[in-house]
Amino acid sequence: MSLVELGNQIKPVILSGVASSGKLTLGNLAGALKNWVKLQDQYNCYYMVADLHAITVRQVPAELRQSTIDVLAMFIAVGIDIEKSTLFVQSHVPEHAELTWVLNSITGMGECSRMTQFKDKSAKGTESSNVSLFDYPVLMAADILLYQANLVPVGDDQKQHLELTRNLATRFNSTYSPTFVIPEPYIPEVGARIMSLQEPTKKMSKSDDNQNSTIFLTDKDEDIKRKIRRAVTDSGTDVTFSKDKPGISNLITLYSIAKNKTIKEVVAEFNGLTYGDFKPAVADAVADYIAPIRDKFEEIKKDKKHLNEIMKIGAEKARQTARKTLRKVYKKVGFLELEG
Ligand code: TYM
Repeated sequence: MSLVELGNQIKPVILSGVASSGKLTLGNLAGALKNWVKLQDQYNCYYMVADLHAITVRQVPAELRQSTIDVLAMFIAVGIDIEKSTLFVQSHVPEHAELTWVLNSITGMGECSRMTQFKDKSAKGTESSNVSLFDYPVLMAADILLYQANLVPVGDDQKQHLELTRNLATRFNSTYSPTFVIPEPYIPEVGARIMSLQEPTKKMSKSDDNQNSTIFLTDKDEDIKRKIRRAVTDSGTDVTFSKDKPGISNLITLYSIAKNKTIKEVVAEFNGLTYGDFKPAVADAVADYIAPIRDKFEEIKKDKKHLNEIMKIGAEKARQTARKTLRKVYKKVGFLELEG
């Protein structure tokens, strides 16, 4: 286990990230960011805006710059404390790309082509299928291994990438010598997979063509409420949680997160009531849950100088750690060090 000394405390390490390929969603919050906040006292946390990951899908440069800074501001708006955690932008730490190259040399083509996300995204056509999309999970492994992370809080869709990361770390350690900590995923029991409001068998996503499918953390109250009221539900009328009722189960999950109640408590609360009673309650609860985050985000966004300062400090801290790991890796694989 890697332990980093922080003041007088010894803390295990967390690394996690969000791709800056669009506005953050309620799915991102429920699956990942919520836990980032929760864990920041017990761990030495590195939270990253993954802009290198964002360009695996074509981006408009000016929009990418904006969403990178917006994602950073959103980290703070949801409650990440810059005094406790290191926030940084991935492209400010060149070691991520450098370690990816080394890890590529121990990754099988078959391992990458089996990744569900690659299969889904590349199925959209040849234009969306590029080498970086194929290599994306290796970059993600580099992100995690550079910081010797013990724990990686993510949503369910990243589980397979975490498994690859663990395999690559184990392979590198046995091919050369122990170098990397083998990280564990941290996936929440509730909220690991928030579903689309329009197609509840599909994951809620930043890049869904149908904006009514997704609740963004920047949405206004009335938009949140409208999207939830119009959410696709299943046949029947009872508020019950089950696999064959993905629409209503998704809304129960959202209510449970917004109200900080268990699924069981929510089902009991609405026992005997119908979808017609439940939907407006979910709409109000989620709107109330997101409103303070959105307001804080708008506030933080105004202070560009402060955000730039946070990025500078974060990049320097992240690089210190990343450099140390990369230096070890370069030595182990046989790269020649310059003398003098
Ligand atoms: P990204 O940007 O797609 O999502 C960021 C985080 O949000 C989670 N998430 C969800 N959780 C529940 N329900 C949903 N509908 C939902 N949609 C997204 C994701 O699981 C993720 O935890 N490759 C990553 C970013 C990344 C990363 C890393 C993560 C880059 N390097 C290293 C961890 C460690 C990604 O694109 O996530």
